[in-house]
Amino acid sequence: MPMHLSARVSRLKPSSTLAAAAAAGEMARRGIDIISFGAGEPDFTTPAHIRDAAKDALDAGHTHYSPIAGEPAAREAVARKLQRDNQLGHVTAENVLISAGGKHSFFLLVHALFDPDGDLEMILPTPAWVSYRPIAEMAGARIVEVPTRVEGDFKMTPERLRAALTPRTRLLLINSPSNPCGTMYSPDELRALAAVVAEHNAAGGRVIVASDDIYEKIVYADTPFATIGRFLDPKCSITLNGLSKAYAMTGWRIGYAAGPLELIRAMTRLQGQMITCIAAFCFPAIVEALDRGDADVAEMREHYRRRASLMHERISALPGVRCPRPTGAFYLFPDVSAWFGRTTAGGASIRSSLDLATALLSEAHVAVVPGDEFGGCGPNHIRLSFACSTERIQEGMDRIARFIDGLR
Ligand SMILES: Cc1ncc(COP(=O)(O)O)c(C=O)c1O
Repeated sequence: MPMHLSARVSRLKPSSTLAAAAAAGEMARRGIDIISFGAGEPDFTTPAHIRDAAKDALDAGHTHYSPIAGEPAAREAVARKLQRDNQLGHVTAENVLISAGGKHSFFLLVHALFDPDGDLEMILPTPAWVSYRPIAEMAGARIVEVPTRVEGDFKMTPERLRAALTPRTRLLLINSPSNPCGTMYSPDELRALAAVVAEHNAAGGRVIVASDDIYEKIVYADTPFATIGRFLDPKCSITLNGLSKAYAMTGWRIGYAAGPLELIRAMTRLQGQMITCIAAFCFPAIVEALDRGDADVAEMREHYRRRASLMHERISALPGVRCPRPTGAFYLFPDVSAWFGRTTAGGASIRSSLDLATALLSEAHVAVVPGDEFGGCGPNHIRLSFACSTERIQEGMDRIARFIDGLR
């Protein structure tokens, strides 16, 4: 008898980025030397002093349930961090909810804002991280894409935002630095977008802006990182962030949200009926990372900076490729559509980004993520992550260059 599953999960597709990583992992297990430009996670291990804080907490008996929104000391550390690093002076520990990763924070947010079968909208500049759309749609949001272009460094302009806003807009998602685009907004560009939201809300709109700042520490632009919340009324702004990327802590599952009390309390009620709280021994590690992790972050950032310029130089040298200079996160998102319509040395025809990624994996043993599911112009692009050593980058780019050379 076939299992009867809910419409909600039946519609849900597995994450394409995780699927790409699984295919590459399978080949690696068969002993094939795969160069992975697919992973969306740092190749570094969590700094020792942060690991020690969790080990000490376990030994000291932090093995019980914690308050749903997180231990007060950790919520205070998050508030301190947001005040210090992001100039969000109004944030207190009460405005903070600690959850099981940035993805989980976003899940809680959209489930607190949207109803199933409703007509409220979420504006999503695309290309965008593959999980926003399925998670928000599951909550009942209607996605309004604002496609951006490679020529504009994948940034949404104030005019395009203004045109997308309607009385039904409930949420605007900003992710800067961006996965998959590898670019970020300048403080002035964010200020201009915030002004459009303020104007809309002053005229009766009810838009909340969620800023996903998960890549905030991995930046190497000429302008500094800023979060759009700095330029918004705190009543309509929520910051989503976490420890996964900045501190190389993807496996720990720690994220947080900071926003208006009513919204944070609603998300906390939901978390209470979902996971209760995160693992108790993580809280001292959160304090350690946020209060004393800056030097580690700076060291990792230097590696990313060198890799970003190397990879950009190598990818830009390939014929027909267009790729903005990366300014944040650890991704490049080149337009590779010039290679569509060609045939590989192994006889595969390349009609799409997925064909290209499949052939690169099977013939060149390089894993990349096809751009199809990032939305907007994504189908003309592939995503390459440079969370691997410079030697591996050189080797992987040599393989890609040979593969492109062999196209007919
Ligand atoms: C833009 C963006 N936001 C959030 C996340 C989720 O991070 P976490 O591992 O904390 O759930 C990711 C992970 O890839 C991401 O790329």
